[in-house]
Amino acid sequence: MRMYDIIKKKRDGGELTTEEIKFFVQGVTDGSIPDYQISALCMAIYFKGMTSRETCDLTFAVRDSGDRLDFSGIDGIRVDKHSTGGVGDKTSLVVAPIVASLGVKVAKMSGRGLGHTGGTIDKLEAIEGFNTTLSDADFMKQVNELGFAIVGQSRQFAPADKKLYALRDVTATVDSMPLIAASIMGKKLAADDDCIVLDVKTGSGSFMKTVEASKQLAKLMVDIGKSAGKKMVALITNMDRPLGYAIGNALEVIEAVETLQGNGPEDFTEVCLTLAAHMLSLAGKGSVEQCRKLAEKAVADGSALNKFIQTVAAQGGNKKLIENTANFAKAKYSHSVKSVKDGYIGNVDTEAYGLSSLALGAGRNTVEDEIDYSAGIILKRKTGDKISVGDEIATLYSNDKTAFAKAEEILLSATEICKNKPAEEPLVYCIVD
Ligand code: URA
Repeated sequence: MRMYDIIKKKRDGGELTTEEIKFFVQGVTDGSIPDYQISALCMAIYFKGMTSRETCDLTFAVRDSGDRLDFSGIDGIRVDKHSTGGVGDKTSLVVAPIVASLGVKVAKMSGRGLGHTGGTIDKLEAIEGFNTTLSDADFMKQVNELGFAIVGQSRQFAPADKKLYALRDVTATVDSMPLIAASIMGKKLAADDDCIVLDVKTGSGSFMKTVEASKQLAKLMVDIGKSAGKKMVALITNMDRPLGYAIGNALEVIEAVETLQGNGPEDFTEVCLTLAAHMLSLAGKGSVEQCRKLAEKAVADGSALNKFIQTVAAQGGNKKLIENTANFAKAKYSHSVKSVKDGYIGNVDTEAYGLSSLALGAGRNTVEDEIDYSAGIILKRKTGDKISVGDEIATLYSNDKTAFAKAEEILLSATEICKNKPAEEPLVYCIVD
């Protein structure tokens, strides 16, 4: 078999066989296919797409490219949640403790941020001492004892996806439906969960910019998961604006803690409770409505917050930061971004908000970049809010004073100020199951 022929076949709109897809993923994993041929096939897939059968084959080949986890040592139902990536998306920090506090196991593997989207592992590492690499034995012990543990993906986990994702990121082929589905589901299926709730983001801050495209992606991933024997549901949620008010690692942890205390932003709280309700319901805790009430109660009685504090302590993190978020280190500098117009905040380019936060040091442009955990943005106004000249749109935080000019310019040009109050958009568009 020759990689040249596989690229040509896909370039001309052909359907790849299972063997051809396995050959490709094997070559990505063992390094025998050069980056330029991998990239060429990704581009051909970007333009010509894949059938459901091809996408399933690609997903299973990615899943089988490295270690598969065996969670059989964990007692009880295991449920996971995965977001397709957004801005200000700190939902895992809230939903996992809620669900675990209600007796459902969450054995979570999460990723790092790249580009405009943040990553849960980076957020957790903003908590001094938090260890995101546990041995398999310690990970399972913690899940059994506490109900929740969270780690980053090891080098041996879906290695084909690591290589593919890095190349897609630099060849403008990230936003391809079959490639996203295979990347996300390949990793999800290599972990050994019973139920998976997908949070498929839609809008300007996500990879899928329209609700229709997001629905298609959700359906594809739900079908792949079901064909592998998982209980699946996907929620299509709004990423036309950042979730909550905080963007940036420590700032987002603080907002997550406030949400666990019952004082979180309305939009973020709503998305968290909806996701938690679906996770609990898939795990057999009752109807979605009943589970929503359970989730609300876990926040109101402090058990979800307590679960988060216990998890932080168990993984070596400084729990005093969570008990009193005023203890988090602050960025040395802050800068106010003010409106030069009267009106209402209209459409915002959420991806650009993520890039503005990146410019402040809160993310990385390449995997080697160091993160400034205290950097980021606190929005003061969001879509639909009234604003007058001189009112603050956002406060920027960074340890690098010189970063403010660029971050401010990006944020201002990403924020539309309009005469009339824009119509409200739903937070959760629909459920795909
Ligand atoms: N998240 C992933 O893990 N992979 C993608 O391709 C997109 C988002």
